[in-house]
Amino acid sequence: MRRPLIIGNWKMNKTASEAAALIRDLRERVPASPNADVVLAPPFTALESARNALGPSSWISLAAQNLHWETHGAFTGEVSASMLRDLDCRYVIVGHSERRTLFGERDENIQKKVRAALMHGLSPILCVGESLAEREAGRTESVVTAQLNGSLAGLTTQDLATVTIAYEPIWAIGTGRAATTEQAVTVHRSIRLFMETGWDSQTASAIRILYGGSVTPQNIESLLASDAIDGALVGGACLDPDSFATIIGAAQTRRA
Ligand code: 13P
Repeated sequence: MRRPLIIGNWKMNKTASEAAALIRDLRERVPASPNADVVLAPPFTALESARNALGPSSWISLAAQNLHWETHGAFTGEVSASMLRDLDCRYVIVGHSERRTLFGERDENIQKKVRAALMHGLSPILCVGESLAEREAGRTESVVTAQLNGSLAGLTTQDLATVTIAYEPIWAIGTGRAATTEQAVTVHRSIRLFMETGWDSQTASAIRILYGGSVTPQNIESLLASDAIDGALVGGACLDPDSFATIIGAAQTRRA
């Protein structure tokens, strides 16, 4: 059984001092538990204060929301993997649909980011997902498969051991209209099949596939009731400590 993973993507929210306060609030509400992994992804500017608020050897880990593939140099406004490692990030979100649609990210560059993360010991959280028009045209599976292919081609099974995939249908993000468990499970199964075909069954059965898009305390139990869904990438609801604590609690108490 894969261990559930809950990630809070703060997006462009919270200053450094607000981050510390949010983490204090959250920690009061969530007991440490070995049953689930919990990761917070604050903006770059709040990573250091988040790290300090979590304290050394915290059971909650940090992720960045993006990275650049080069190690250093003349790339104004960008942040490298080693800079993130230096702030104790263990994970990095790559290819979020907001980066794809608002900032023009393409699979070619997403692949470079995945590789840079792996090279520097960061675990990439690769986001994939279709638009509403693509779903309505019956293209969900081909869109998601093309994104996976474009971002993961050429990686070894060893590389994939630390990769997480997040299925985030664009139409479900920030809309209050989450995918049904059934809709998510169908795509998760096709992702696992793609991994099995491209690599092997061991890799396919080990990789964690999260669902993201309007996850709330109300729908998390239903999503986690399927063993095809290994956790959640949470946006809006992770900014409210009560809601996020409930979502984490559902993962911690999930039946094995
Ligand atoms: P919401 O949970 O606000 O829909 O956002 C999902 C998301 O984009 C997480 O990365």
